[in-house]
Amino acid sequence: MRIAVLGGGPGGLYLAALVKQLDPRHEVHLWERNAPGDTFGFGVVFSDETLGGIEHADAAVFAAMERDFARWDDIDVHYHGTVLTSGGHGFAAMSRHRLLAILQQRCAQLGVRAEFRAPAPDALALAAEYDLVVAADGANSPTRSRLADMVRPDLEVRKSAYIWLGTDLVFDAFKFYILDTPAGVMQVHGYPYSRDASTFIVEAHDDVWRRAGFAEPAAAAAGLPPGRSDEASIEMIRGLCADVLGGAAGSGLALGGHEIIGNNSRWVNFTTVRCARWHHGNVVLIGDAAHTAHFSIGSGTKLAMEDALALAACLHEQGDVTSALEAYEAERRPVVASTQRAAQASLEWFEHIGSYTGQEPEQFAFNIITRSRRVTYDNLRLRDPEFVAGMDRWFATQQDAGEDGAGPGVRPPMFQPGRIGGLRLKNRVIVSPMDMYSARDGLPGDLHLVHLGSKALGGAGLVMTEMVCVSETGRISPGCAGLYTADQEASWRRVADFVHRQTDARIGIQLGHSGRKGSTRLMWEGIDQPLPEGNWAVCGPSAIPYAPANQVPRELTEPDLAEITAQFAAAAERAGRACFDLLELHCAHGYLLSSFLSPLSNRRTDRYGGPLENRLRYPLEVLDAIRAVWPSGRPVTVRISATDWREGGVDGDEAVEIARAFAEHGVNGIDVSTGQVVSDERPAFGRSYQTPYADRIRNEIGRKYGVAVIAVGVISSYDDVNSILLAGRADFCALGRAHLYDPQWTLHAAADQGYSGPGAAWPDQFAAGSRKPQTGRTDGPRPRLELIRTGVPGTAHARWRPGPGSGAGP
Ligand SMILES: Cc1cc2nc3c(=O)[nH]c(=O)nc-3n(C[C@H](O)[C@H](O)[C@H](O)COP(=O)(O)OP(=O)(O)OC[C@H]3O[C@@H](n4cnc5c(N)ncnc54)[C@H](O)[C@@H]3O)c2cc1C
Ligand SMILES: Cc1cc2nc3c(=O)[nH]c(=O)nc-3n(C[C@H](O)[C@H](O)[C@H](O)COP(=O)(O)O)c2cc1C
Repeated sequence: MRIAVLGGGPGGLYLAALVKQLDPRHEVHLWERNAPGDTFGFGVVFSDETLGGIEHADAAVFAAMERDFARWDDIDVHYHGTVLTSGGHGFAAMSRHRLLAILQQRCAQLGVRAEFRAPAPDALALAAEYDLVVAADGANSPTRSRLADMVRPDLEVRKSAYIWLGTDLVFDAFKFYILDTPAGVMQVHGYPYSRDASTFIVEAHDDVWRRAGFAEPAAAAAGLPPGRSDEASIEMIRGLCADVLGGAAGSGLALGGHEIIGNNSRWVNFTTVRCARWHHGNVVLIGDAAHTAHFSIGSGTKLAMEDALALAACLHEQGDVTSALEAYEAERRPVVASTQRAAQASLEWFEHIGSYTGQEPEQFAFNIITRSRRVTYDNLRLRDPEFVAGMDRWFATQQDAGEDGAGPGVRPPMFQPGRIGGLRLKNRVIVSPMDMYSARDGLPGDLHLVHLGSKALGGAGLVMTEMVCVSETGRISPGCAGLYTADQEASWRRVADFVHRQTDARIGIQLGHSGRKGSTRLMWEGIDQPLPEGNWAVCGPSAIPYAPANQVPRELTEPDLAEITAQFAAAAERAGRACFDLLELHCAHGYLLSSFLSPLSNRRTDRYGGPLENRLRYPLEVLDAIRAVWPSGRPVTVRISATDWREGGVDGDEAVEIARAFAEHGVNGIDVSTGQVVSDERPAFGRSYQTPYADRIRNEIGRKYGVAVIAVGVISSYDDVNSILLAGRADFCALGRAHLYDPQWTLHAAADQGYSGPGAAWPDQFAAGSRKPQTGRTDGPRPRLELIRTGVPGTAHARWRPGPGSGAGP
């Protein structure tokens, strides 16, 4: 096979060496525009997992790399004069310069024809001449631009500037230095990569970067010939980091301290590259050309080399180039997508780092280490049990002393008691509101009693009703429950009484009005679809339907608004009499109050539309009306959609302001959901995907106003709950579907963690079942497994499949 490789970075060189190694008959031709000794950047990082793949694929390369590795286990968080250390992280790093030299040498040994100082010919021209063209030409890939119509790249320029530097200070751990500068928070990511140097990346949000005065030297540098370091910026960084480097500010080479070194270094904004396809015909993109992942979760080098491993294996395994490229893309896409999700969470966390710097050092350290959501409470406990034990102890000290003044004691964070306003909950788990679509004429029945009763018996601290509608036409569907008649009040009272009599859980009611999303079918008959017959007229802030199939809502007049406010207040009075412990106002998911908040559904030109202050007016009026009649001392929360997941809609910044307005109007809690406001939203679903919004609101608003923040959305493991609480991303976690799967979710979480203390007591009637029963067959044949040979034994490409007769995979 004749293979053209464009670009001699880690991806291109490693691919060239691997294919040649696997089959020396291949003719491999590589072009690199730089000279062999040129290098950009300092140390590259590898996890143990990546190294396993490299070791098995090409022992010679691995042996050469291993001789140069700087290895470390610890992450040190330097913050507000403290240092917290988390161990067991297992990384290795080496200089990029050295890595490229090793790979260049290996290519030479194996007979790759590599041309340096040679711009690559056009990829499509090469495609006619070669069997395969591999574009490993980096983040600004000319090939990707050339194939743009086919691979459909999406380039997302982020909001922080960073500069990649080195230092002769040899760190003994991965270092985060959090610099509280007069311009705002900046951070240093540092790690050793050789016996005499470390990588030193400085990063700051654009606003901080500008305020710090970096814009001028960067602009000046931009006028310099390409390749010149941004010396003025580096000099400023020396000053800012004098404490880290052990020298005096403004001293040039920090006096008595360590030096910061640039190498063609300049400020850049990280760009996340995603492509709809990674190949077209016989041209394939690998490494940064195909995808990038923010440096804070590892390195692009690792992904580029793993791509090379997978592509080499697929080429070796598959009979033809087309199948090989399909197989390569199928194998790498999920891995890269998962890495990019973690990288996105991490880079967004750093963009908002200023929100978290009010946290105590312990919480901040846990937050920064778990920011990508890949590293969790349980995972850290395996790596460094003492670090997590210290966190549990610290978290216990943050809780109310309790009546006896002794404090609640050390336990898994989710079983610490918590408060929403004056309401004390036995633990931090909430059953999220879930519409059962099973009421008759708005009347809750036995299903509601059993549903909510069983959840209250299942261990959660607080059980929420579904959205209970304040009027008949304020229902979403004919099956939605209401609280606008005396019978409904009595039925709800029956549910609340059961919870209070039989359990130590508390019960809250969520009040709402469907607005423009009303008059629709039961969830399982077609969510958000209009009724086949018997539709009632719907209303909203503006005459904009939710989706083309939905009714155009009638634009509400001021008298209409006053009438609906009165309905909310009447329902709140009834809820008080029905003995609910907490009231939540539903201002999320596109229902009436939410549709006032969003500029996508609210286009009014009166005092209820336009700027956020006006869009907030009606929801705040309703909140005030409710608070006026709701028993004082019982808490009120609001649920919001913290983003509409669409341009021009509510976003994370506006959500902080919405939360602030509600906090200033006296809510005791904010339940942070997202979306469902417009039908053409584009949510980034994933594990605990809404938590970053809760995180900002808790740290920017909740702590300041003493308002509890509830996180919700695909939080399904107790490990996630413990992680979210310890990191201070929320005060409570609401779980919906997990409770439909297992009404005793909280009690089972306690059993799984070997915890049986306060906050996790089984009801007396069920206590005999509190030990986890044995499940599954223990006497059956064990599945037989065989390793599929991939051509690159034991590499990332290896996978397991059921052996003959086993009938099961792992
Ligand atoms: C300035 C800078 C510093 C970095 N420092 C580090 C670091 O210290 N540690 C780390 O882990 N990661 C670092 N990175 C990121 C890391 O380099 C990439 O994620 C990783 O190298 C990706 O490997 P790659 O082979 O896909 O691309 P690259 O390493 O970018 O390699 C692409 C190669 O293609 C060449 N090329 C591009 N166009 C042409 C053309 N038309 N003709 C011929 N050759 C061409 C380029 O010269 C380059 O050598 C740095 C990135 C930059 C931009
Ligand atoms: C069947 C069902 C009904 C729901 N009804 C409501 C509701 O009435 N009010 C509300 O605010 N959210 C409602 N939700 C959303 C949940 O409260 C929760 O926010 C969502 O399911 C995400 O959490 P989860 O991933 O833990 O399920 C409903 C969800 C489900 C699955």
